[in-house]
Amino acid sequence: MNNSLNVSATLDLANGLRNFWYPVEFSKNLGMADPLGFELFDQCWVLFRDDQGTAACILDECAHRACPLSLGKVIQGRIQCPYHGWEYDRQGECVHMPSCQAISNPILTLPVMEQGGMIWVWPGTDEPGALPSLAPTLPDNFTLQAELVMDLEVEHGLMLENLLDLAHAPFTHTGTFAKGWPVPPFVRFANAATTPWTGHWDPYPIHMTFEPPCFVISTIGLRGKDCGRHLHQVHACLPRGQGRTRLLYRLALDFGHWLRWVPGTHCLWQHLANRVIQEDLRLVQGQQERLKGGANVWNQPVGYDKLGVAYRHWRNQVERHGSDWPESPADEGREPALNAIVTGSDAPITGSVVSLPPSQAPPTGH
Ligand code: FES
Ligand SMILES: [Fe+2]
Repeated sequence: MNNSLNVSATLDLANGLRNFWYPVEFSKNLGMADPLGFELFDQCWVLFRDDQGTAACILDECAHRACPLSLGKVIQGRIQCPYHGWEYDRQGECVHMPSCQAISNPILTLPVMEQGGMIWVWPGTDEPGALPSLAPTLPDNFTLQAELVMDLEVEHGLMLENLLDLAHAPFTHTGTFAKGWPVPPFVRFANAATTPWTGHWDPYPIHMTFEPPCFVISTIGLRGKDCGRHLHQVHACLPRGQGRTRLLYRLALDFGHWLRWVPGTHCLWQHLANRVIQEDLRLVQGQQERLKGGANVWNQPVGYDKLGVAYRHWRNQVERHGSDWPESPADEGREPALNAIVTGSDAPITGSVVSLPPSQAPPTGH
């Protein structure tokens, strides 16, 4: 680590990151007949519903010959391996073995819960805790427009830092939502005094929150700060594996509620979301390559990197101390430089962290 904020990125997935609930699938995608596979922390799992409709999660690997169970089907609430027909219940117990003498050989399971239209699993070694305090639910007056799942070939922390950064928009998203945007003289994240993770992007009409371990929740005024039309987004970046992300993306609007019923709208949102992600992806993958080569991706943070730095600081603490590390701006022992960041100061922080002088402060109106 060679910057004054003492934060650093790594492709390693520390054990402490496992002790959280992660939403791995949207509820609407898991029916009664077809299992759904996913990867988390470099291990393959499969979701299915038992005969009561309750979601279950077991290892995506048959105990017999390691065939992926996600290639099979669900019969009366049990998942059937497509190779020789062994059937598993929600406890991972093999309850039917055709054409041979049955032996007991249960496979691994994960704790599962379903809430807020998402299926959550607990991959940790500790006892499952509570869901994140901001477990995404749709805000009042918003209508769900799209729920998308994307598997990306990039590290989830780098992807989160990308989503927690708006200063890049006029340079990166020139083919999509930021086409024609002027480059403002100053961009800053004005966080609430009580938390480094919630605040407003100045001069953009965007409110944003990071919710550990993996959520970026944002609300965008589509016609400026005080407009009545907003787009609400939830991004969940899951540690699919080293250098790999599973992204769950939810989009909602507080106007045009009828849009969701228009044929093709979901495809349109999917197309747009893909294009935006592709604009980011090549850059973040490039960072990942440099990181593998030994580069420090937090070598020179500046004022508008505040939210990304706050995320990385949280993650570094989890890597060092585990998931029960307390987070509060009043934490004793926090480095003075980080305190300056999380308490919202825009004064020069220290060393390599750059802040503009007051004469270049952003305009108050836009
Ligand atoms: S590999 Fe699954 S039943 Fe044989
Ligand atoms: Fe971006």
